[in-house]
Amino acid sequence: MKEENLVEMGIPVIDALIPIGIPRNSFIMIIGESGTGKTALMLHLLYARLKRREPCIYICFDDSPNAVVQQLSSFGWCPTKYIEANLLHFIDCFSYRAKQSNTLPYVTFIENSQGYYSMLTDIIASSFERFTLHDCQGAIFLDSLTEFLTQVDLAKGIEAIKTWRAEFSKSRNILCFGTFHIGIKPLEGVEEMLEYIMDGIIDCRFEPNFMREGVLLKQLRIRKLKGAPHRSRWVFFTITRRGVTSVDVKTIKY
Ligand SMILES: Nc1ncnc2c1ncn2[C@@H]1O[C@H](COP(=O)(O)OP(=O)(O)OP(=O)(O)O)[C@@H](O)[C@H]1O
Ligand SMILES: [Mg+2]
Repeated sequence: MKEENLVEMGIPVIDALIPIGIPRNSFIMIIGESGTGKTALMLHLLYARLKRREPCIYICFDDSPNAVVQQLSSFGWCPTKYIEANLLHFIDCFSYRAKQSNTLPYVTFIENSQGYYSMLTDIIASSFERFTLHDCQGAIFLDSLTEFLTQVDLAKGIEAIKTWRAEFSKSRNILCFGTFHIGIKPLEGVEEMLEYIMDGIIDCRFEPNFMREGVLLKQLRIRKLKGAPHRSRWVFFTITRRGVTSVDVKTIKY
């Protein structure tokens, strides 16, 4: 039995690295190059919280809520079940590009306008009001922080992320996850800044020796985790029709 304020991530390949779980008031960043599996990890983390009947807000910057619903369905996780149970709500910061507002009841559509970063804080807070919250305060998923920071004034965007950590993770005990792509020129230096802000960092990469041979095998490691012991070695993982799973590198066909 875990201490009340420590929670499992809900993905066995990660939970094996954190023997007593992570503090619920954490803001965790999943960081890595494009294609290393950050979004797939986020979706699996989302499913893990929904399965525990925890209300979740998924903030879409990189893709539409429909695309996220489709991806969840492709893993066999039946998102409509959680939407109908009022456990899953989307904030859509993507579709404004297509000048298409979404009228679905489980989606809050956001126009990217002046001061939208501060508006977003209020919208996240009011989105939680639609849930019936008991002991658990739920979870927030931001995919990706990179896209958010390219849409706003950088200094104000970083301030907003600090505010979300203070207001949602620390004050309200809401577990927060965000992804960050590395190697984006206009955001050089931002990575280091976010790394010190965050409570936890999960690195994703392609294993470098295999990569030199032209083979892309995904690995993750927990680089930082405040408030809980963890192992820091790289572990292989793969993405299957059932989400993120560990893999024995000797058995991989490539
Ligand atoms: N449903 C799936 N089934 C099988 N493999 C998948 C699935 N979804 C993702 N993958 C694998 O994961 C890779 C990329 O995953 P993902 O979109 O999570 O990467 P990412 O790190 O979020 O990339 P980006 O930084 O571009 O957003 C795909 O190229 C594929 O190898
Ligand atoms: Mg992604």
